[in-house]
Amino acid sequence: MAAGLLAASTNTGLFGAALAAPQETSWPRVVNGDDSAPGDMPFLVALLDVYDFEDDGAYSAQFCGGALTTTTTVVTAAHCVVKVKSGAVFRPDKLVVGLTRNLDSPNVRTVGISAITVHPNYDSDTSAFDIAVLTLAEPVMDITPILPMRPVDQQSLVAVGAPAKVAGWGNLSAADESYPTAFKIGRVTIFPNESCGSGADFSFAGVTFAGFGSRDASADTMLCAAGVSSSGKIIDSCQGDSGGPLVGGYDSAMRLIGIVSWGEECAITLPGVYTRVAAMSDFLIATNALVTFAPTIPPTIDLTVVNTALRVNFTATDDGSVVSSFTANATDPTTGQVFGCTAQPRIDLQLPFCTIGGLANGTAYAVSGASGNSLGTSPASAAVVGTPLGVPTPGGIRKVWSSDKRMIAVAVKQSRANDAPISRVALRCLPIAGGPPKFAPVGQDRWAFLRGLRPTSYSCAIIATNALGSAVSAPKVIRVTR
Ligand code: ARG
Repeated sequence: MAAGLLAASTNTGLFGAALAAPQETSWPRVVNGDDSAPGDMPFLVALLDVYDFEDDGAYSAQFCGGALTTTTTVVTAAHCVVKVKSGAVFRPDKLVVGLTRNLDSPNVRTVGISAITVHPNYDSDTSAFDIAVLTLAEPVMDITPILPMRPVDQQSLVAVGAPAKVAGWGNLSAADESYPTAFKIGRVTIFPNESCGSGADFSFAGVTFAGFGSRDASADTMLCAAGVSSSGKIIDSCQGDSGGPLVGGYDSAMRLIGIVSWGEECAITLPGVYTRVAAMSDFLIATNALVTFAPTIPPTIDLTVVNTALRVNFTATDDGSVVSSFTANATDPTTGQVFGCTAQPRIDLQLPFCTIGGLANGTAYAVSGASGNSLGTSPASAAVVGTPLGVPTPGGIRKVWSSDKRMIAVAVKQSRANDAPISRVALRCLPIAGGPPKFAPVGQDRWAFLRGLRPTSYSCAIIATNALGSAVSAPKVIRVTR
């Protein structure tokens, strides 16, 4: 694998892994990927050199990608974490995982690493078994990980012509070393196994690619892929993308199918080569990076009472599983009718929540929650009782007693409390010609006075407030005189 070896070094020459000068050939502009948008591929992580990160920030510290596959594991390429010359594995305290889309953002969230496990069969000469698992020092509970593909999964994910996406902060233009701050996404196509170890050509979208022969590649442990853009440019991963995810399938069938491993130059008529994840299941299971079970522990929930609805906030418990959704059910105690809602884990450190609507105010519902993934659902949590409550019904203006002497005096109809005690009733008058509103409290005697008004017309209404919010009565136009 003569040419491939060159590509199997890291892009920034970290840890002494210097890259051969790229000028030796005319390196084409690479990747030809799309820009990522916030929320894209939240499981993509950046591997950062700790010292570079502390000195110069994430952009200069990034040297590889990785994918969060459980709350506590990142899957990456072995060649990202093995020293080229000595073959020694990096010490876990030499790197951190960056959770960000943009390496330039001011406060990049990082997570430490407690262990690095390289595949026991990793061969730096052939790049076979180019996979390693980073064990995180603390669980990441707010990002939905990506499940690694298993042998039992749909083989169509890695069949010839299947669409896949590769993402990373790797080189855009090998000739002049240009790296993006926000990661790029390349849309690629899976090549036949014969192009990944048997030397067969593969043509699609008007481009004929050469294949790698048995001296370079092996389809047992590798997967070949590349793309062609609508304008005929070759789409490929490149230096700096290593370790990052190649993803196939959509929604709940989305799987990590490959890991950026090596290539010959970038975006030429040869595919990029990826570690075949489905062939690494035993290693991933042994390192707890592949979870094969449904959540076992329900989330804890708390409720916020809303008008005709209950908002349910979820806090997941780390049971080693991958949570991709939360559900909540509210049961009507008398009819037994069940109302539900679902939420997804969030990537912004906020608690996930969903709102169960269509409930009756004043009814005490028993609410429980569960965590789920594509393999099943946890048992339901203990029930929490919640009673949706309404805002008051404001009484309105019964009679305008006076509107002269720059003053309004009104008698007010009683407001109905509905579900929660009324905390405040007020008269609000807005000058019709514009200007700030005037407020006056409505007293126990249900009178309200507003003084010092301008001689103009006001639109007045009664506002009644309780713990759940305010409601405004129908307005009445009152003309104020001197
Ligand atoms: N080995 C490279 C890295 O360390 C990835 C090369 C991928 N090359 C390709 N043509 N797909 O970043």
